[in-house]
Amino acid sequence: MFKSTLLSVVAATAMMLAVPSVDAACSTTALSCSSSASTNTCCTPKYGLVVLVQQWVPGYGPSDAFTLHGLWPDACDGTYAPSNGCDSSREYTNVETIVQNYGTSTLYSDMQTYWPSDAESNNDFWSHEWSKHGTCVSTLAPTCYGSSYTQYEDVTDYLTKVLALRAQYDLYTALANAKITPGGSYTYTAMQNAIKAAFGVTAKIDCSSGTLSDIEINFNVKGTSTYVPVNTTGSTCSGTVKYPTK
Ligand SMILES: *[C@@H]1O[C@H](CO)[C@@H](O)[C@H](O)[C@H]1NC(C)=O
Repeated sequence: MFKSTLLSVVAATAMMLAVPSVDAACSTTALSCSSSASTNTCCTPKYGLVVLVQQWVPGYGPSDAFTLHGLWPDACDGTYAPSNGCDSSREYTNVETIVQNYGTSTLYSDMQTYWPSDAESNNDFWSHEWSKHGTCVSTLAPTCYGSSYTQYEDVTDYLTKVLALRAQYDLYTALANAKITPGGSYTYTAMQNAIKAAFGVTAKIDCSSGTLSDIEINFNVKGTSTYVPVNTTGSTCSGTVKYPTK
């Protein structure tokens, strides 16, 4: 009797784990990479340390905004998700067309404004970021949507979320509020302090030959999609940093 009850509990638990949950069934407070994190990868990102990478590239994007490189899911110990992406069946090469045909009317224009490629076509850049990184956001797997899933919803949800995080973690304004504006040189410490004052955490501030190139903010994820910033180390800028005008 006891044994069969135990077996049915085990079977029920196994079923719960095997059947993906839709958002509403997931805890809204569990934090990725913590002991409360769910083992259901629809409820907590499998790669629970997520890196938002924004870049400062003269010639690209608004003169008063960083542009996006991407949103990269890493394992909790900081190791990378698979470099080839996490789901070859969703590695699309036509993300620009997907955005145009399946995104909201503002998604495509926001992508063009805030996520321009500085090295290849926008389509190739966006397709690469989606295929390599977006497919590794386990909570956006089509099975997690249940029967309500519509084609490419995972793609547009990912891109929309990345744009929203850029707007929320507006580095240009964070720096400007500390009187750090393009066209000057500033100490690395002053830049780091400005980011800490704005967002409560340290960032990874990267330079190329003493010139600011990009800034990474790390997050853990509460529930499926509330991004909670955490401290980041490993900046390659030091001393005095050149912040050029665009
Ligand atoms: C980040 O580090 C600072 C110390 O530099 C600490 O006070 C703060 O609690 C840390 N924040 C998080 C979210 O870990």
